[in-house]
Amino acid sequence: MTIQVVMLAAGQGKRMFSHTPKVLHHLAGKPILEHVIETALTISPHQKPILIFGHQGEKLQNKLNHHSIKWVEQKEQLGTGHALLQALPFVSDESRVLILCGDVPLISSATLQKLIDVTPENALGMLTAHVQNPHGYGRIKRDKNNQVYKIVEEKDANDEERAIKEINPGVYLLSAKYLKKWLPEIKNHNAQKEYYLTDILPLAVQENISIHTAEPAITDEILGVNDRLQLAHLERSYQRQMAEKLMRQGVTLIDPERFDVRGEIQVGRDVVIDINVIFEGRVVIGDECVIGANTILRNTELGNQVEIKSHSVIDGAKIADGCLVGPFARIRPDTQLQEQVHIGNFVEIKKSVIARNSKVNHLSYIGDTEIGKYVNVGAGTITCNYDGVNKHKTIIGDYAFIGSATQLVAPVNIGEGATIGAGSTITQNAPANTLTLSRNRQVTIDGWARPVKK
Ligand code: UD1
Ligand code: CA
Repeated sequence: MTIQVVMLAAGQGKRMFSHTPKVLHHLAGKPILEHVIETALTISPHQKPILIFGHQGEKLQNKLNHHSIKWVEQKEQLGTGHALLQALPFVSDESRVLILCGDVPLISSATLQKLIDVTPENALGMLTAHVQNPHGYGRIKRDKNNQVYKIVEEKDANDEERAIKEINPGVYLLSAKYLKKWLPEIKNHNAQKEYYLTDILPLAVQENISIHTAEPAITDEILGVNDRLQLAHLERSYQRQMAEKLMRQGVTLIDPERFDVRGEIQVGRDVVIDINVIFEGRVVIGDECVIGANTILRNTELGNQVEIKSHSVIDGAKIADGCLVGPFARIRPDTQLQEQVHIGNFVEIKKSVIARNSKVNHLSYIGDTEIGKYVNVGAGTITCNYDGVNKHKTIIGDYAFIGSATQLVAPVNIGEGATIGAGSTITQNAPANTLTLSRNRQVTIDGWARPVKK
């Protein structure tokens, strides 16, 4: 039987005090709801998940329309049972429905798979969890044979029921046929005047449908985000899990509490990551690299034995074996550094290729440039790549030496082995293996006297 995932996300999220819908707030760099969508797709990759949305549907669609999901609106929020009812016209009778909450971002594929594994096709499966503080959750009631038969909401519970520490995370699995039969029968005769999805349990019991339960590996998996404190808690929990995973693979994290991945990261052996490093997008790191403190790596690939020194921002770059970058370097998209390149402090490189063993060590801007091998770019050198309208290329041949504080006005070509005198403004091509310079000759005025104060 195919599994149809339905994500409930029509709730308002008042406690965020935000103009942004709750499920669009970010966890690990992407919307809370996107985490749930991606997990749903691991369970049922060929069946579009259904999203029940309510408020600010346009904002949700703007942020999430790159995902293939079925959008179903719940116009009035009359409870979880009513929310799920909106999905049913779009669900095949032959499928089983897996119900998730759009505001529970860390639910894992492994836990959902466990639920699927313990639930026979004609049964009802649900997650439960034992928590220290069950406040706010529906409590699980079990009979003397330990069979679940009912869920009581906090607001409808008596003192004895409130003391129960096994709670309902709101994740269920059951055949669409049952839902189509039971959901229309549910009444809203309760403290909140809501149609409770949890009221399907007594109906299952009545029809002798067995109820099976599974528990998540860690409790944080089933925690929802209702306010920004909970969001921060889950963010740290997520980052802690990512940190542990990397350490188990042989990465040294100087402080796993000060480590953030907002995307995907792949890391080789014996990599050392100092504190406050942020990884965004897709980052690949080879063996024996060292990443300095307070560095951001975004959509970047590092070879082996690369050292990125502290306070560097590297975005969209490919950096080959043995390169040294930073401190305080900024590498921008479409940059390629070949083996053993050195980029020093206060250097910005954009859309440039630098061949092996070349150095740009101090205070430079290199944009739209091709630099050959064994080139030395002196301190303060700038490529003037933009004429106010168009961008132009600078090409520097192998073994060239660019004297300090030079401006290379693009388009311009510096020949192989050329030397450019310091302080030059180069507006025409410089031939290979010669010295080119464009500054005025130095003069000394004999007999000149400093002015004196009158
Ligand atoms: C529900 C469960 C409760 C469980 C808790 C777990 C019911 C009656 N109770 O509580 O047992 O412990 O979830 O978090 O189901 N939603 C809609 N439309 C609505 C109402 C809710 O889409 O009309 C969505 C919310 O956006 C949220 C999810 O359903 O993603 C759960 O709603 P929420 O209000 O957080 O939970 P409760 O109904 O209080
Ligand atoms: Ca509610």
